Amino acid sequence: MAHFDENAKPFSNKWMDERLGVNTLNKVLNTEYWIPKDINFLWAMGMILTATFGILLVSGIFLLMYYKPDTNLAFDSVNYTIMSEVGYGWLWRHIHGVGASIVFLIIYIHMFTGIYYGSYKKGRELIWLSGMGLFVAFSAEAFSGYMLPWGQMSYWAGMVITNLFSGGSLEAYGLVEWIRGDYVPGDAYLTRFFMLHVLLIPLAIIGLIVLHFGTLRLPHVNNQEGAEIDFKEAADLWKAGKRKESKVIPFSPVFLSKDVFVMGVYFILFFYLVFYNFDFAMDPVNFDPADGLKTPAHIYPEWYFLWSYEILRPFSKDMGLIFFAVAQVIFFLLPFIDRSPNVVPAHKRGLFQIWFWVLLIDMITLTAMGKLPPTDPTFALIGEVSAWLFMFMWPILFIITMLEKKLEKGA
Ligand code: HEM
Repeated sequence: MAHFDENAKPFSNKWMDERLGVNTLNKVLNTEYWIPKDINFLWAMGMILTATFGILLVSGIFLLMYYKPDTNLAFDSVNYTIMSEVGYGWLWRHIHGVGASIVFLIIYIHMFTGIYYGSYKKGRELIWLSGMGLFVAFSAEAFSGYMLPWGQMSYWAGMVITNLFSGGSLEAYGLVEWIRGDYVPGDAYLTRFFMLHVLLIPLAIIGLIVLHFGTLRLPHVNNQEGAEIDFKEAADLWKAGKRKESKVIPFSPVFLSKDVFVMGVYFILFFYLVFYNFDFAMDPVNFDPADGLKTPAHIYPEWYFLWSYEILRPFSKDMGLIFFAVAQVIFFLLPFIDRSPNVVPAHKRGLFQIWFWVLLIDMITLTAMGKLPPTDPTFALIGEVSAWLFMFMWPILFIITMLEKKLEKGA
């Protein structure tokens, strides 16, 4: 048996270290977890996401105390009980609604930062894959949460999205009924989405966040120039007091203090939105109770799903479904489609830089078109062209990064 210091006071640092290895843990995760100096505020997005997820969990727990997962009671429990009867219920709902919307903005910024700086390459593939797992889990969490107020948009968006599983001309209707637990969204549907939203998906998200952090620990985060750093040498310099010469800083307390500063700025904006501009996160149509006999004139998802919805919408059912399915998984494949092993920022990668900005603008265009009703032929055409462009962007990426690789070999 290991030696224990008999004089160590219970729960003192030494006592805890002998039992739980708290000092080793603190070194591995904080004081000797080295972060490159050459990074900017975009590297704070990961911590902002973690904090926003925490806020969503806490506000969700408060809402859960009064929410009723029953098609006869759900709408009133949200729009009447929580919003008007429960003290500060409106505040928790606004925090939850704004958090759910803003978290996607930050996820997209975080993803595109990774793409811009090539942070998915060479040893960082698993960071990217676990990140995409988080993207899918957050999407499922947002969709299942949107069902819960049982308003018109909950019901009809749920109807449209679950209809996707009818499998086009495969006519796999049994699958839709299996997912819904009924012919149309009803009580079984609401209670299963409630379970997914409050239990299964949050558990998966927590597991994926731990995995994402784990995949970050050994390759370390990337930096603005994609420079390969000898972390051991740089850490030794830091520990020897040569802090200017060292290319790294410890996560805690040095880098963490910067993260906390960016988070402070973020939370000022976040609470400004919660108190003064929460409307953007609440669809007015969803303030009408669900009615299976009254289809809204225009059904659309929340803004963060619009780009993939617009990839589905202009095409016949089969083709739309195939395109939609590709759009959902293609980002997973990015580390393998990009053939160039070079980790450098996009502005030093010639054609890749153009590819990056075209993809971003294309996805913003798809988002804007997805919100408009499909009746205007000009906008419908812009949407269709943008959807085709999105599909072509991936083979194009393969080709330009192959060229990059060849040029590099030649150099
Ligand atoms: C939604 C929950 C997520 C959380 C809580 C999270 C958290 C973090 C944290 C704390 C970091 C380290 C600091 C930083 O670079 O910001 C990080 C890095 C990273 N994340 Fe995420 N992330 C999430 C989603 C994603 C998604 C959706 C992707 C993309 C598919 C992604 C890809 C990456 C990559 C590539 C890095 C490494 C950045 C680098 O090496 O410079 N993450 N993440």
